[in-house]
Amino acid sequence: MAYTMNTPWTLAGRNLAIQKAIAEIYEQYFAGGPRWIAKHLPQRKQMGDYASKLSDESKEILLGDYGIESFIEDYALMAIQASGDSRAISQTYTQWVFDETRHSKALWYCFIDSALYSHREMDEYTYQCSQHVWTFELQTGHEATPERGAAYAIAQERQTKKNYRDMQRRVWQEYGCPRDATQRPVYPAIAGVLGTLATDEGYHEAVFRKITRVYLKFWPDKALQAMWDVYEKYRMPMVKLPNAEAFLDAVLSTGIDSPRAVVKDILKPTYESLGLESRAAVKRAARESWDLPEGAVIQVGDTLDPDITEDAIPYRMNADGTFTPVSA
Ligand SMILES: [Fe+2]
Ligand SMILES: [Fe+2]
Repeated sequence: MAYTMNTPWTLAGRNLAIQKAIAEIYEQYFAGGPRWIAKHLPQRKQMGDYASKLSDESKEILLGDYGIESFIEDYALMAIQASGDSRAISQTYTQWVFDETRHSKALWYCFIDSALYSHREMDEYTYQCSQHVWTFELQTGHEATPERGAAYAIAQERQTKKNYRDMQRRVWQEYGCPRDATQRPVYPAIAGVLGTLATDEGYHEAVFRKITRVYLKFWPDKALQAMWDVYEKYRMPMVKLPNAEAFLDAVLSTGIDSPRAVVKDILKPTYESLGLESRAAVKRAARESWDLPEGAVIQVGDTLDPDITEDAIPYRMNADGTFTPVSA
């Protein structure tokens, strides 16, 4: 099938360009994404040796992390809604749901192999989690769309990545800071699994960032409005956890997460990775993008994208959220 790229500013043209670009992102994701299976994680054999070293706070936080990951079926439902009839987005989410499903499994093995909780306790906890439903609408106040789903996911993936990295370091310290013969840190048992989870989340963050940049390029006003919709009131995943109180106490007392850290470590870098310096800049860009003429596209970087034809009207988005026309 031949794609003609000569009218990226019409509704059909924009959509074609977006679908083609997302299909390419999916190809890269599928070809280069992390490949591992929870049951076959090598760290499972090490769990017994390290189980007694884990603190109660870490145990509580990891249980909460498991709880959040166990809501994957609700996220999968959101993915179906947010994919619409786009095969490229649907493929991407299918791979993502597969990746995420093994996260809760990996944590489940951590608890069972370390004998931190019994099968019965884990079953009961999981069942209690399943009594609640997470929805995108409840989380963000907006209906799920492909562009909102991608923009929201950048921040959430980044937050989970940071959480797993921080927890990996914490658990490593509780294990007594193990190092190899050359003094390099080694991450056995749960510390190793957390590193694997963090790598997955970082990979997801990059995939959704690429997708959002595609929308930003070909459909700036829609993409920027979606970003503002989901970042304006961004917060921790809104799921009901059976150990909510103990989880929150542990999170706060260990300093693993805080509202301030969310702004500094999650939201600000997310805005910056999309070319905007601050929350105010996102708001301004969302507002000003409505005044861009029909046919406007956003030039990413210093050179005009070869996919953008002569007939499109390229603009540069500045870090403060204003737009400047790019003269040919
Ligand atoms: Fe995850
Ligand atoms: Fe993820």
